[in-house]
Amino acid sequence: MIWILLGAPGSGKGTQAERLRDEFGLKTISTGDMLRQAMASGSELGRQVEGIVKSGALVPDELISSVLQARLESEGIGAGVILDGFPRTVPQADLLDKMIEANQWKLGGAILCDVPVDVVVRRLGGRRMCARCGQGYHVETLPPAVEGICDKCGGELIIRADDAPDAIRKRMAVYEEQTAPLIDLYRSRNLLHVVDSSDDVDSVHQRMRQLFIGLTG
Ligand code: AP5
Repeated sequence: MIWILLGAPGSGKGTQAERLRDEFGLKTISTGDMLRQAMASGSELGRQVEGIVKSGALVPDELISSVLQARLESEGIGAGVILDGFPRTVPQADLLDKMIEANQWKLGGAILCDVPVDVVVRRLGGRRMCARCGQGYHVETLPPAVEGICDKCGGELIIRADDAPDAIRKRMAVYEEQTAPLIDLYRSRNLLHVVDSSDDVDSVHQRMRQLFIGLTG
């Protein structure tokens, strides 16, 4: 079973995906994390996408879909996979449907992390990320024990390049134009589940877990 986490930049998809993974024994795949790892390693893919990701634009549909497909098909989906950040356009949703059909997987649903714009802007403004392991933090709502240092691995906490104000504006515009249409698409297929994600991390997680328990029986 494949689950999609939809939502604006900073709506908490990555944070909630990790909690659901830990609680329900699922895999999570973040296409954003995959691209950041490729950039950090200096691979061909990383060099290809670096300028695009830093600007806040989307990388081409065929490229990101083939990267995801290779990962899903090599690892398998185990007890289930949560996709964080894919699909992000209608063509990507079509490509995902084809992957699912070809591999006889099933789409469990698309869960929308629903958050007002002013809240996501605050969340992105305070986000920090470990340069070594990628663990996410927030200076107010999820601070590390020691300022600037990752609790998990001791790495340095940095601000993501695409959390610069211009890139945030670009990402929000791209979300509205290219990703928000997926909300109606999955609603029309009776696969959309909206979770109010504007409260603190634990409260949102409680809503997510109730939904998941209801959907998976
Ligand atoms: P990606 O990494 O997917 O970025 P995004 O969608 O913009 O999402 P974010 O990671 O910014 O936010 P999030 O919703 O995961 O929130 P988080 O949990 O971190 O993609 C980056 C780029 O890669 C794209 O712009 C594009 O270039 C490229 N890309 C990726 N996928 C692609 C695709 N499919 N097609 C084409 N291009 C693609 O939370 C944010 C902050 O808020 C954190 O500090 C967190 O601690 C805090 N927080 C979270 N929840 C709460 C809460 N409930 N209360 C208070 N604080 C909270």
